[in-house]
Amino acid sequence: MTDVTLDTISNLARKRGFVFPASEIYGGLRSAYDYGPLGVELLRNVKDEWWRSMVQERGDVVGLDSAILQAREVWQASGHEEVFTDPLVECRECNSRFRLDKLDDPNQCPTCGKRDTFTDPQQFNLMFRTHMGPVDSDDNLIYLRPETAQGIFTNFENVRRTSRLKLPFGIAQLGKSFRNEITPGQFVFRTREFEQMEMEFFCRPEESPEWFQYWQEERFQWYLDLGMTESSLRIRPHDEDELSHYSSETVDVEYLFPWGWDELEGIANRTDFDLRQHSEHSGEDLRYFDQEANEKFFPHVIEPAAGANRTTFAFLIDAYYEETVNDEIRTVLKLHHRLAPYKVAVLPLSKKAELIEPAEKLAAELRKRWIIELDVTQSIGRRYRRQDEIGTPFCVTVDFDSLDDGAVTVRDRDTMSQDRISMEGLIGYLDQKLG
Ligand code: GAP
Repeated sequence: MTDVTLDTISNLARKRGFVFPASEIYGGLRSAYDYGPLGVELLRNVKDEWWRSMVQERGDVVGLDSAILQAREVWQASGHEEVFTDPLVECRECNSRFRLDKLDDPNQCPTCGKRDTFTDPQQFNLMFRTHMGPVDSDDNLIYLRPETAQGIFTNFENVRRTSRLKLPFGIAQLGKSFRNEITPGQFVFRTREFEQMEMEFFCRPEESPEWFQYWQEERFQWYLDLGMTESSLRIRPHDEDELSHYSSETVDVEYLFPWGWDELEGIANRTDFDLRQHSEHSGEDLRYFDQEANEKFFPHVIEPAAGANRTTFAFLIDAYYEETVNDEIRTVLKLHHRLAPYKVAVLPLSKKAELIEPAEKLAAELRKRWIIELDVTQSIGRRYRRQDEIGTPFCVTVDFDSLDDGAVTVRDRDTMSQDRISMEGLIGYLDQKLG
């Protein structure tokens, strides 16, 4: 592994078109980011891999896409309106605001350095408020969802009835959430708008400890299967005072970020808290009827909840290597093939039409299978370096010999070894390598 700083990775992300600050031409909107041509592919691949493992490859989990805007009652029932808060303090000296529980020293202002200048902490609710319709009144106050999970709980009965699933089963959802964080930061790690990948797994109450263990193992393995360094991953149980209001037990999957260990994903035992609350508040009976046992009860819920942006960021950091090759530093993103934004780059050795034509033809064939790039600029060495830096697993070079032997040179990003492959057999070769 190469030690990587936050600056190195955020500079690479901006320079190569992974991530740009939102509203950059107006000076940027701190804590919001736009994903560029490479970032959008990487983020999409991370989400696709999550969906593949959580929904596609399982028979006991189905998907959902619920609305971001929900009735206010949802957040009253879930407890978010009352307790989804962080302790906010303000420095009387310089008026900077902080989240008290994230300060290294709770008595010293990190901005002006003065001591004992903080106001008493106030509980600040993290939900973004807006109004439904043209009138700004308390009667039509609603929130942007701070977690995707509640849309799953409110649809529990709809999904159960229509999918005819029996316990244990899960409902997965992937989408935007919003939190008015007091201190966003560390690039895309903590932002006010982000995407979550959440799954609520409903089971019999007495089986919840077993499923809690199962989902910890499954989720940890998912990161390893996608190439994340094992020594940079750990599971950390929450202390009693860290638990969310709905959780009886939580562990975090943590990654060793440049600033230290921090959360990638939480796995919580939410017990029957949410279904019970929604039953009480809505008057709908959300209990599950077990026909064999002839009993009705509230299922318990195990919830693996990850952040898509945070996970993408961690994969980017983890893949970053600097290697010395022929006395020069080569920067390479050793992203898992499934995560790499571009799978293949087609590089004609010269800009002459006799090479551009077959290269374009080849690129058109490859595009039917993968996201690829045809790059005709600069020297071949510089083009290889650019593809290494954005993590493209294979570079295919069309040269003058290709016109005679109908073959191309395929360069492997990680080993830098080169194979001569016939154009006819190229798709089969890449298919096997990319898996
Ligand atoms: N439904 C449970 C829930 O929302 P959480 O631990 O608050 O749990 C789950 O959030 C995941 O969402 C986190 O582990 C993190 O990856 C991501 N996440 C939470 N807040 C975030 C933020 N402000 N910016 C980016 N990602 C965030």
